[in-house]
Amino acid sequence: MAGRIPQTFIDDLVGRADIVEIIGARVPLKKSGREYRACCPFHDEKTPSFWVSPAKQFYHCFGCSAHGTVVSFLMNFDRLSFVEAIEDLAARMGVEVPRDQSAVGAPAPVSDDLYSLMSKVATFYGEQLAANERARSYAAKRGLDHNTLTQFAVGYAPDSWNEVLKRFGASDASRAKLMETGLIIEREKGQGDNHGHYDRFRDRLMFPIRDARGRVIGFGGRVLDQGEPKYLNSPETPLFHKGRELYGLFEVRQQRAPLTRLIVVEGYMDVVRLHQSGIHYAVATLGTATTPEHLKRAFRVVSEIIFCFDGDRAGRAAAWRALQNALPEATAGRELKFLFLPDKEDPDSLVGKEGRAAFEARYAAALPLSEYLVSHLLEDIDISHADGKARFVAEARPLLERVPPGPYRELLLDRLAQVIGVSAERFLAIVGPMNTAARAAAKAATDRPQTTQFEQGRTARSAGRGGMVRQAVHTLLMFPASALRLAPADRAALDAVDEPGVDILRELLDSLQAHPATSTAQLLERWRDHPAGDRLARLAASESILPDEQAAGDELLMAVQKLAQAPAGAELDALLAKEQQTGLGGPERERLLQLLREARPGTR
Ligand code: UTP
Ligand code: MN
Repeated sequence: MAGRIPQTFIDDLVGRADIVEIIGARVPLKKSGREYRACCPFHDEKTPSFWVSPAKQFYHCFGCSAHGTVVSFLMNFDRLSFVEAIEDLAARMGVEVPRDQSAVGAPAPVSDDLYSLMSKVATFYGEQLAANERARSYAAKRGLDHNTLTQFAVGYAPDSWNEVLKRFGASDASRAKLMETGLIIEREKGQGDNHGHYDRFRDRLMFPIRDARGRVIGFGGRVLDQGEPKYLNSPETPLFHKGRELYGLFEVRQQRAPLTRLIVVEGYMDVVRLHQSGIHYAVATLGTATTPEHLKRAFRVVSEIIFCFDGDRAGRAAAWRALQNALPEATAGRELKFLFLPDKEDPDSLVGKEGRAAFEARYAAALPLSEYLVSHLLEDIDISHADGKARFVAEARPLLERVPPGPYRELLLDRLAQVIGVSAERFLAIVGPMNTAARAAAKAATDRPQTTQFEQGRTARSAGRGGMVRQAVHTLLMFPASALRLAPADRAALDAVDEPGVDILRELLDSLQAHPATSTAQLLERWRDHPAGDRLARLAASESILPDEQAAGDELLMAVQKLAQAPAGAELDALLAKEQQTGLGGPERERLLQLLREARPGTR
């Protein structure tokens, strides 16, 4: 892992970015009062309900409630990860992303030189393809048309031991870079040749592997016709990590068509041919099993993934490995399916024969993860007797344990129990102590008290003090600088207040007083990883009736003072309710009267 990006840097970047310019470059914006509007790029619509606020540096759609900062926009529209979005913004402003190198084992940042070398070599391979009749006719024989070759930047590594070495490795330093990117290989000693190196890729059709930003990070090279190995891939390098990259993901993200699912296939050719036939949502793992990291990446982009495997034994083995690695990523709201193709076919051959519509019709027969899991276990377990049931339970248990606790795991548990004809409780009793959903869910709830409290503050509370907390938080979101209006005494008075969400209000105030923020976006970016971050972002999307910072400061001050005047409000409510229902004991009555006396001059 590279070091963390310092928050101050993100802050600065978000403070300098112009959301109108960045969104405007992708979506035609029309000025409307102090804001800008457009037809929402995140859902289909005819009348514009997508708003961009330059003051807040925030966007919001009233139709589909998409909302966020410039960073969120890049993540959602360009389908980048958080770090990629930050890198993109930084590149736009011509600054380097610094990393806290305190993190243990953080590798040195990859130098830009390596990327630019890869890009030059990819261009060179591209030129070679154009110039080589044999390579071009092989590509044509594989059914690849000109557009597809361009879209995937397919090239050709010439039939030479040192063409790349000669062109790109004239000096010791440049040869060192070629070594680092895996483009050349060092000769074993005593084999002559003064340079002592040779090209890794020779006489192969070259598929550049690109990262999310389109930078070439590796290559896969296929022999023309026969030869071993059929595909040669770049080794692991500082740029290229097989267990992480999905071939085709960059090209998928280039599409502007709505993206709801990804199909994960096995080969380069499969991806390229699927795209060419209109299935523009195909990606491949690079000759390795699907890793949880692959899935994390994929699920950042879509919520439905179809794994596609050849029908042969190797394909089935790969599918089972994929299932095992997918379990940690299986949660409610995500769909994982397994599609098995007829024997001797792969997506490339099938889509070539039957075309897009027939290929997509096959998805109807894909097995959901739970069904595939069950059917695989049942393949060699006979559950008609007790021993078989016991084995089924024993084999299912470690699989179930890999699924994160939550509704999805509960449903899977139900299904497994159903298979052997027992109740879910009985099934759990048989598997014995496990990190059960209920227990883990309870733990998650106690781990994140702020979230639930804040939620209560938003929903369960009526207009009273809970609404005041919300109003204060909202004001801070709209006008972060208004925090500076509170005197230390005003802030200190909040310490005694026990109201849902007030912990968030205090945290917000403290952080804003220590580090004033200039925009809503800046504040939200600081809170992105906070358990309450999402909720704050949603709250920021609601309109403010406050005209300016002065009014916001007044409002905030008033809300905080009112809150502080009734610190015992919750207790008072509880005592009043109890009095009505069951009556109060002596000391309780005493306390109630005391609270009522204290509260009267203030808000009640
Ligand atoms: P396949 O052997 O199924 O080949 O390998 P394919 O994709 O159908 O290739 P074509 O159609 O004959 O051209 C599937 C994937 O496994 C990896 C590659 O990523 C390949 O696309 N692989 C395969 C290798 O890395 N090396 C090999 O030698 C073979
Ligand atoms: Mn094939």
